Amino acid sequence: MKILVATDKPFAKVAVDGIRSIVEGADHTLALLEKYTTPEELYAAVVDADAMIVRSDKVTKEVIAASQNLKIVVRAGAGYDNLDLTACTERGIVAMNTPGQNSNAVAELALGMMVYMARNTFQPGTGSELKGKKLGVHAYGNIGRLVAGIAKGFGMEVYAYDPFVSADVMTKEGVQCVNFAEELYANCHYVSLNIPANAQTKGSIGAALLSKMPKGGCVINTARKEVMNEDELAQVLEERQDLKYSTDVAPDNFALLKEKFGARVFATPKKMGAETAEANINAGLAAANQIVKFLATGDKTFQVNK
Ligand code: 3PG
Repeated sequence: MKILVATDKPFAKVAVDGIRSIVEGADHTLALLEKYTTPEELYAAVVDADAMIVRSDKVTKEVIAASQNLKIVVRAGAGYDNLDLTACTERGIVAMNTPGQNSNAVAELALGMMVYMARNTFQPGTGSELKGKKLGVHAYGNIGRLVAGIAKGFGMEVYAYDPFVSADVMTKEGVQCVNFAEELYANCHYVSLNIPANAQTKGSIGAALLSKMPKGGCVINTARKEVMNEDELAQVLEERQDLKYSTDVAPDNFALLKEKFGARVFATPKKMGAETAEANINAGLAAANQIVKFLATGDKTFQVNK
């Protein structure tokens, strides 16, 4: 069968080599579409593919419609907000992600961004340290847990808010459970956003939460730019000259934010969270293994369109 890897932001070569060896080792054929610039290139490449691996590439209903043999699409990564799940389900196509495989890379970036903001984006002058500061982890999933663990190594006091995780789990890991998002923002110098982007969370981080942060508060967003209410963020940054925002990747109004707030805002030029060789290998190989297993046995572990 033909397995297409479609990545406008390609995997590291070592990951592609690993994917190839899994795919060809199971007597399938690998097709690569990298650095494409138009959706039409993806439509053409997917026509005869039986399976597809993507990263943040948009798998729209048009992509699904263009495919004739597609049985499975795997998002090599955690967030699957780029997949049109309804279109997949309507065509009986299994959609999966590879949860946890690139979490460490994202968590390390979150702490790196925190240091960068604490040191005033490396401008001369007096920065501050993370030690002794309070960190609020907004969503205690695979990434949130790793962020909490690394932050404890920095000597931070860690709190977490996640309605889907019990206080017991957090307590056992030395993290203080907070029952309301408002409480997390009101209490913490730093907040790390680790929520998925979905209908409930898009635009959900706005003035009501941000304005509650203590003096000098900083939000680190390695989740999705869409979870932030950009207009309200601009408004709060205007009203509160002490607040800071660091995000992977740039919000739509970033030019305006940068012009108005300078070093108080930072954005990566391209989504950097999972841009490590290790994350590429972990997520890419997991995706290839999941596809090979599904094609051989029908195994649907990690299906997200149930
Ligand atoms: C994820 O959801 O797994 C991350 O955002 C990684 O995205 P990427 O594969 O586009 O780097």
